[in-house]
Amino acid sequence: MANLVNLRPSLSLSYDQECAAKRTSLSSRLKSAPSRLYIRACSTDDSLQPQCPSLAFSGDNSSTRGWKVMGTLLGLGAVLAYHDHRCRATQESPHVYTREEVRSHSSPETRIWVTLGCEVFDVTEFVDLHPGGPSKLMLAAGGPLEPFWALYAVHNQPHVREMLAQYKIGELSPEDKVPSTLKTSDPYIDDPVRHPALKVNSQRPFNAEPPPELLTENYITPNPIFFTRNHLPVPNLDPETYRLHVVGPPGGQSLCLSLDDLYKFPKHEITVTLQCAGNRRSEMTQFKEVRGLEWNIGAISTARWAGARLCDVLAKAGHQLCETEAHVCFEGLDSDPTGTAYGASIPLARAMDPEAEVLLAYEMNGQPLPRDHGFPVRVVVPGVVGARHVKWLGKVSVEPEESYSHWQRRDYKGFSPSVDWDTVDFDSAPSIQELPVQSAITEPKDGETVQSGEVTIKGYAWSGGGRAVVRVDVSLDGGLTWHVAELDGEEQRPRKAWAWRLWQLQAPVPAGRKELNIVCKAVDDSYNVQPDTVAPIWNLRGVLSNAWHRVHVHVAP
Ligand code: MTE
Repeated sequence: MANLVNLRPSLSLSYDQECAAKRTSLSSRLKSAPSRLYIRACSTDDSLQPQCPSLAFSGDNSSTRGWKVMGTLLGLGAVLAYHDHRCRATQESPHVYTREEVRSHSSPETRIWVTLGCEVFDVTEFVDLHPGGPSKLMLAAGGPLEPFWALYAVHNQPHVREMLAQYKIGELSPEDKVPSTLKTSDPYIDDPVRHPALKVNSQRPFNAEPPPELLTENYITPNPIFFTRNHLPVPNLDPETYRLHVVGPPGGQSLCLSLDDLYKFPKHEITVTLQCAGNRRSEMTQFKEVRGLEWNIGAISTARWAGARLCDVLAKAGHQLCETEAHVCFEGLDSDPTGTAYGASIPLARAMDPEAEVLLAYEMNGQPLPRDHGFPVRVVVPGVVGARHVKWLGKVSVEPEESYSHWQRRDYKGFSPSVDWDTVDFDSAPSIQELPVQSAITEPKDGETVQSGEVTIKGYAWSGGGRAVVRVDVSLDGGLTWHVAELDGEEQRPRKAWAWRLWQLQAPVPAGRKELNIVCKAVDDSYNVQPDTVAPIWNLRGVLSNAWHRVHVHVAP
């Protein structure tokens, strides 16, 4: 695998340089190509959800099982044909193809070829296994993958390249230059400038969190360092022409609202903490590999949001609470090359409940929403996972079923630790709505040296569904003995505790201690508590990570 990593086609190399490098090394690489084939989901990011099982093929016993499973999936014939193709690919010297020839292979009848850098791949057998769905891969049929990999940067990973290498059938002819559009077609070129303090987990799409030491500096997170979770490029929307489409009930009237129309609804303002389902995923990864962005403890932030209440807008469109189950579906104006927009939904009962205070927000901390956070209008669903707070809101509709969006149905769901990518059934689990009780230590940091005498420990605590945090317990000895921390921040309304509590504890460092194992855990007003370890809550997507937070520090002599 190392050789493949080192040989990754890089867009910063010129086409000719890259081809030359490839040609020199190709034959030796093909000879030493790994005898294992991994077919596994391409995504370690929330933006592409793996849907195909993970199969490992090798010379040992597990290969037999792998082949059997794959045979079931694809039909033995296809597997044998593919195996034959792979053997040929690794034995023969590379063919050279023109772009014109590649272009003519863009359907199952002609076979489906794609290029990456100067390499040509026949991905016909892989199309149906593509984690993002066959239609997405077909967009690149007969042409280069780069424009799509630029959009879904998650592809640019060793295991994806390793898998693609198995489908290689040759190289592009040296005369065939990279089309000039490739050099300029960066879908993220128009993304906003971000604050340098943010810890970036992925640049494209942009995902970043504030560092722990800044996270709890202020009860209200300043806009520039509020964590950002994007799945696609940030749309550049004109507030003058912006319209929100609210689909009316059958026989009713749909609304097409400008920003000025939205401003006419009573303005409602609330403090709400937003937390991504993947917050603290990196702790799950330490226990066992998961697929997703490596969030530390900062995929959570708090702002004062203002806007129109969703229940007022729905009522204006003629919607009422109905007896049968219904869902309010939201669509963002950020979309991928197929035109598929980010989407999510919440139950109608929550949307119509004035006490639930669901907002169509146009202000964040007294300012128009920043572009990264949904300018000009986003949904804010207090007490509910961040994924449902749809940004750049374009459409609202009431449907008998949950949103069909990938992010509602094939992501942001929790599973048993025993479920893996071979056995996962996304339809069997409910979409995450209210999040469980959470807390983390922001000060001191793991590995830091603290002074002997007294130590100050700070952090945040929050619970979903409007449940108030009633206590935070802190231990200096890994959970043997406990102190109760002091809670700061706004007083919380019963059943409407939408925002976090910051907390701190000043505790004497026991004499003679050289190190401290600091632990925190919160309790909410339903007496929900956090689990003590990750193991029993580990899940393949690394969501809902809320075990006791642990920080190990040294004590200065
Ligand atoms: N809305 C749109 N349109 N597109 C997105 O990618 N990401 C969701 C949600 N709303 C997303 C979206 C997720 S997963 C989260 S956690 C929150 O936005 C993050 O909001 P923030 O970036 O303002 O912190």
